[in-house]
Amino acid sequence: MSKMEIPDKIIAMAPSIAQSEAQMEAAYADFAGRYPTYAETVALDRLRATEYSRLDEFDQVYLDYTGGSLFAESQIEEHLKLLRSGVFGNPHSNNPTSAAMTRHLESTRRSVLSYFNAGADEYILVFTLNASGGLKLVGESFPFAPEGRLLLTYDNHNSVNGIREFARAKGAKIDYAPLVAPALRLDRERLETLLDQADPARENLFAFPAQSNFSGVKHPLELVASAQSKGWRVLLDAAAFVPTNRLDLKALQPDFVAVSFYKMFGYPTGVGALLIRRSAFQKLERPWFAGGTVNFASVQAQAHVLAPGEASLEDGTLNYLSIPAVEIGLRHLQAIGMDIIGERVRCLTGWMLEKLLAMRHGNGHPMVRIYGPATTDARGGTVTLNLYDPQGHLLDYRRLEELAGQEGISLRTGCFCNPGAGEAAEGLTEEDMLAALTLGTDVNLFSFLRLMQGRGHKSAGAIRASIGLASNFADVWRFVRFVEGFRDQTRLTIGDVSFDIDSCRVIRDGS
Ligand SMILES: Cc1ncc(COP(=O)(O)O)c(C=O)c1O
Repeated sequence: MSKMEIPDKIIAMAPSIAQSEAQMEAAYADFAGRYPTYAETVALDRLRATEYSRLDEFDQVYLDYTGGSLFAESQIEEHLKLLRSGVFGNPHSNNPTSAAMTRHLESTRRSVLSYFNAGADEYILVFTLNASGGLKLVGESFPFAPEGRLLLTYDNHNSVNGIREFARAKGAKIDYAPLVAPALRLDRERLETLLDQADPARENLFAFPAQSNFSGVKHPLELVASAQSKGWRVLLDAAAFVPTNRLDLKALQPDFVAVSFYKMFGYPTGVGALLIRRSAFQKLERPWFAGGTVNFASVQAQAHVLAPGEASLEDGTLNYLSIPAVEIGLRHLQAIGMDIIGERVRCLTGWMLEKLLAMRHGNGHPMVRIYGPATTDARGGTVTLNLYDPQGHLLDYRRLEELAGQEGISLRTGCFCNPGAGEAAEGLTEEDMLAALTLGTDVNLFSFLRLMQGRGHKSAGAIRASIGLASNFADVWRFVRFVEGFRDQTRLTIGDVSFDIDSCRVIRDGS
């Protein structure tokens, strides 16, 4: 086992790790043998010891990279240095402090376009608050109309699902393309049928995530071209994909792409981007104007003239002091290399999946159910799961999150703002969800499970462990060891939910 991965400092601080060092050494040997390419990512161990040393200093196992990545210390230092290197005022005026800030903003804009290989002649880049901000801009400005369509996939973040409210208000037809459980990949046949229903003479929008924030599934990017050839504009939600994958817009040509930068490199928060193909930009209709978005506005004439290009979509004052930190973050990712990050995440995810899926209670029953692909084939480092007791009863994931927290392990639980993937994962039907809505404000996990006792004992919600650029073997090993601690555990069950892992169905209550 590489000593770089388990600094002596952590061993000293965490007695439980010190006691099981030999076990971890053995586990690492097994891992390294089966994932030999992990050795090629050793540069990330060096970074972990320098740029991300606070993880080990504070004995934290961070497994919430799909929630947000972590920043390298040098990003902060470089940003501070930049801010101290001049006097910066509100951009887009001619005074010297404003002009200095504008130069940094525009340089960052060029860097983001270039990072995604998006030619400035083909794409514009709009700075937003986050990915949701970009998605909302598309939703509110897209020329939905009664003969047009919005096609979403069950696997979408709520910030994409929310676009349907704009489409609904303008009378467009809304459809959802389903997923196939248990791998939670798209039902391609059904999707193609839905894509074929567009009238190419109308404005149609198809929105899907490049990578699922629920299951880690990487959806096929060739869908962009195939949907476009059938008369759709395509919105690619790349928020969960770009932290560990390269996205080449010259090759893919989606009409809209939304990202959040903190998910890519941890800092700054509060800045995202919407990349828009110029041909799609021409079609957008902004429903309002704001400070910064107009070249001319009159109170008496009650008229306005929108500014050209990205300025027409950037409402009010941008987060201008933070935006230059995006350029610094992009340089940081480029210096590491996306291939190295992707390979490390693949190796760690593969080993984690194997270990979790192999875990059995004393009576031979599986301990863990994974929602999504069981291998690293076309999937990223987001792993969503539930634990069950020896009789197949669901263990309360909220309590498990608490217990993990007590061991310094950061996980996320719930439905991760992706209700469609959760519904598909659990086999929940529209009728189930309508029944749950009748609970009104009393709806919570317990009342939901009680209701589902009469509806096939389905459940909702899960635990998500996600791996990212600063993850190492010790992190994954500690998580696996934490889960192993629930072998033959019966005390954390909730409700009466039982699950048959072979058929991937919830089958019986209690007994
Ligand atoms: C796939 C996906 N899309 C959109 C979002 C929304 O990102 P934000 O909260 O930064 O706006 C997230 C956040 O987790 C996500 O994972």
